[in-house]
Amino acid sequence: MDIVTECRQYVEELFAGESSGHGMDHTLRVLRTALTINKEEQGDETLVSLIALLHDADDRKLFPEENGELVHAKRFLESRRVPAVTKNLILSSIKDISFKARDTKAPQSLEGRIVQDADRLDAMGCIGIARAFQYGGSHGRPLYDSEKPLTDMDDAVYRNRKGSTINHFYEKLFLLKDLMNTSAGKRLAEKRDRILHEFVDGFLREWNGEE
Ligand code: ADP
Ligand code: NI
Repeated sequence: MDIVTECRQYVEELFAGESSGHGMDHTLRVLRTALTINKEEQGDETLVSLIALLHDADDRKLFPEENGELVHAKRFLESRRVPAVTKNLILSSIKDISFKARDTKAPQSLEGRIVQDADRLDAMGCIGIARAFQYGGSHGRPLYDSEKPLTDMDDAVYRNRKGSTINHFYEKLFLLKDLMNTSAGKRLAEKRDRILHEFVDGFLREWNGEE
């Protein structure tokens, strides 16, 4: 079996115990989007696939006991005897991919930057809207309230906020377009960002009882 297929099975097993069951859906969308971007950017397809598949395998929300250590990703790469240089490239890309409210960092490798774009794109557009309201619903957040969005939060404040889901668009989703690394990513982000704005504009019009 090739390493990408094996990695996919490994991650599927990891996420199988996850209560919401959505970790794998997100991971596979990130994989597909990353491969689409890679057609244009011409990175190494195997590396793109492995980084995408493993990027949330040690996610803090799913595996808080790991304390941010990439235990699962390391275990897979070491079990497959991936050369140290490649292993380190994959691990350091994964570390840099996750969004931090303030100090965001682009991975050094092209493949890591492609997956970071794909991960962020999954929080935008139609899928991003659906995910935001799913998150808001499961955390008991209101759709909208008149509290002003915050724009300059540190990570702890960002994670612990209980604001409305519409606020999340201002606090995170509208910022993602300008964080894209690759030109293919930028193009996809522009389209998805327009969808986000059309949605929020329509939402606020309807909220106010307008046409
Ligand atoms: P990822 O796992 O993709 O790195 P997060 O764990 O931060 O991203 O968020 C997962 C999904 O939940 C994303 O689509 C994100 O926009 C959404 N989300 C995160 N925080 C909030 C929030 N406070 N309100 C609404 N949606 C949220
Ligand atoms: Ni992700």
